[in-house]
Amino acid sequence: MPTQIYFPTYIDHSKKIASLQLNRDLKKEILQIRNLDIAGQQWSQKNYLSGFTSYASMDQLHLSSPNFAELEKLISKKIAKFINLLEWDISAQSLHMNSCWVNIMPAGSHHSFHLHPHSVISGTYYVDVPSGSSPLKFEDPRLSKMMLAPSRKINCKTLNKIFVSLKADARDLILFDSWLRHEVPTQPAKKERISVSFNYS
Ligand code: NI
Repeated sequence: MPTQIYFPTYIDHSKKIASLQLNRDLKKEILQIRNLDIAGQQWSQKNYLSGFTSYASMDQLHLSSPNFAELEKLISKKIAKFINLLEWDISAQSLHMNSCWVNIMPAGSHHSFHLHPHSVISGTYYVDVPSGSSPLKFEDPRLSKMMLAPSRKINCKTLNKIFVSLKADARDLILFDSWLRHEVPTQPAKKERISVSFNYS
């Protein structure tokens, strides 16, 4: 084939990385954090409509909680594999988790398009994903350069899509470059969608 694909964007979706027990312990602790974290409740009221996040108040959970530290170890193993795939010329040990926080999204909440500054790889671990709840939606990083590019056929290959939505299950992990814009569309499920997000630098 004369046509090759260059400059790919990698997104890693690992299934069931944590034990059921660790996931249960994390869920219990996250619900406790929501009750205890008054600063997080106040920040969420202004910035995370109808949901809760400890993003601006408790974002070092891997340093203070044994459950989150255990999760960090599991994530770091996947990060090592991911940078191997990306062929980055660095050692896995040179990357470290610089922040780790929790997100609880009830029905009607959403998290609009954003990227994660001051880091190189970001991701989310899923604690609870009720049936019918929102996916994680990624945007083609070249979208702002697409000027006159026509829209794509409805049934085009995933590879050629401008937006890709990934549906995770509980205990799954999704990793991506921190510059890759993503959002969580409005949460339709009645039960809360619970996740842990983090950055590596
Ligand atoms: Ni994010």
